[in-house]
Amino acid sequence: MRLDKFLAHAQIGTRKEVKQIIRKKRVCVNGVVCSKDDTHIDETQDIITIDGEEVYYEQYVYIMLNKPQGVISATQDTQHETVLDCIDVLLPKGCFPVGRLDIDTEGLLLITNDGKLSHQLLSPKHHIDKRYYVEVAKSLSKEMIHTLENGSIVLDEKVIQESNVEQINDKSCYLTIKEGRFHQIKRMMHAVGNDVVYLKRVQMGTLVLDETLSCGDWRWLSNEEIQQLKAYTG
Ligand code: URA
Repeated sequence: MRLDKFLAHAQIGTRKEVKQIIRKKRVCVNGVVCSKDDTHIDETQDIITIDGEEVYYEQYVYIMLNKPQGVISATQDTQHETVLDCIDVLLPKGCFPVGRLDIDTEGLLLITNDGKLSHQLLSPKHHIDKRYYVEVAKSLSKEMIHTLENGSIVLDEKVIQESNVEQINDKSCYLTIKEGRFHQIKRMMHAVGNDVVYLKRVQMGTLVLDETLSCGDWRWLSNEEIQQLKAYTG
């Protein structure tokens, strides 16, 4: 693996920052100063240090992105920017977004190369709660809220599972769903005679969107967030 890629995986900094650190001769490979970012290293054998401190290789990466509108939840696309394009570090191969948000949906998206965790978060058996902030076109009536919550809506010939509505005002609410069907919230609102005008995911399982992240920004998950997610998904 390239040295700059290794350091970026190890969450030392952005691609640009890592290159600067290398050029400033702060990095050693097996005790020898290395100032070329394209040097190939063996991440399983070589000892890499920055200012004398050893850097450890992370097999899995976990990223929280505040997805902006206009970006698609895919790893590559010929027409649109993808969520991976929003991440300005060299990512290891095999990173992907966990689940999909529509092109016009904003908010919490986990990006990882941990297939097991992703499977556990997405598996319908696990009923992972996904909480969304929703703004709608028409006032939310009591009947609408009741129907949204009690699971009587049929999508794709199957009744959806119960959901939870926390009303904020007459045209906005938090809606928590347990499944992740195609356009689920938009179709649920449509089924009760309403329309979504703005949608943002704010939570997935134990993972809560960091509100200090502006739209399009990202950060690494903390160890605590990773452990909590793993414990929650079992
Ligand atoms: N439901 C939707 O309709 N769209 C999303 O992006 C997520 C949930």
